[in-house]
Amino acid sequence: MARGKFITLEGGEGAGKSTQAKMLAEFLRKQGHEVILTREVGGSPAAEEIRKLWLSQDEGYWDPLAELFLIFAARREHLTRTVWPALKRGAWVVSDRFVDSSYAYQGNTKKGPGPDIVKKLYQQIAGKFEPDLTLLLDLPVTVSMDRVKSRGGWNDRYQLKAAPFHRALRKTYLALAKKNARRIKVIDASQNAEGVAKAIAATVTKQFKLKK
Ligand code: TYD
Repeated sequence: MARGKFITLEGGEGAGKSTQAKMLAEFLRKQGHEVILTREVGGSPAAEEIRKLWLSQDEGYWDPLAELFLIFAARREHLTRTVWPALKRGAWVVSDRFVDSSYAYQGNTKKGPGPDIVKKLYQQIAGKFEPDLTLLLDLPVTVSMDRVKSRGGWNDRYQLKAAPFHRALRKTYLALAKKNARRIKVIDASQNAEGVAKAIAATVTKQFKLKK
């Protein structure tokens, strides 16, 4: 059985990642694949426990480096218990966020741990493994902030942050996409959900030469 493919979705707040991850999983199932829909932080029993522990505290509670280790402990659990076994048996795995989120959220500030340690930790837990495709749902900062406000979810630790934080997030993501152009494809997430889903389906079809 051929190894399955690993597809990750990334983006700032309000980009509609979770909805798109579900729609992508459906699209791939219709193509005849077994599909596992998963997420980070989380995606396995222990990793979901870590997620609960992590998010049960306000921002600032965790030392930034300790926080990064928590996220990476969860990521290792997710890879070894969920992602790798599924890929090995030929299933396709769609993950709502993965390591690029750590670069974007924990690696982008001067105060924070920074990108070098994110890279080192990733190599320790995953070696040369990486997603076969990453879909970056890109939105102008004003649109993303308006969307989060209008859905009444303006209480998450990162969603609470002001525009400069979200701008830095977007800048980091776009720089990652530029540096990893073969793996990361930028999707315009300012269109409606149907339009975004179409763009994603077209990108995935092209990348993996799927039947149309
Ligand atoms: P998520 O549940 O995907 O929420 P949403 O995408 O709807 O905001 O993620 C929760 C938060 O976790 C999100 O603000 C981003 C953050 N996060 C990190 O800071 N680092 C990481 O490595 C990951 C995977 C997520």
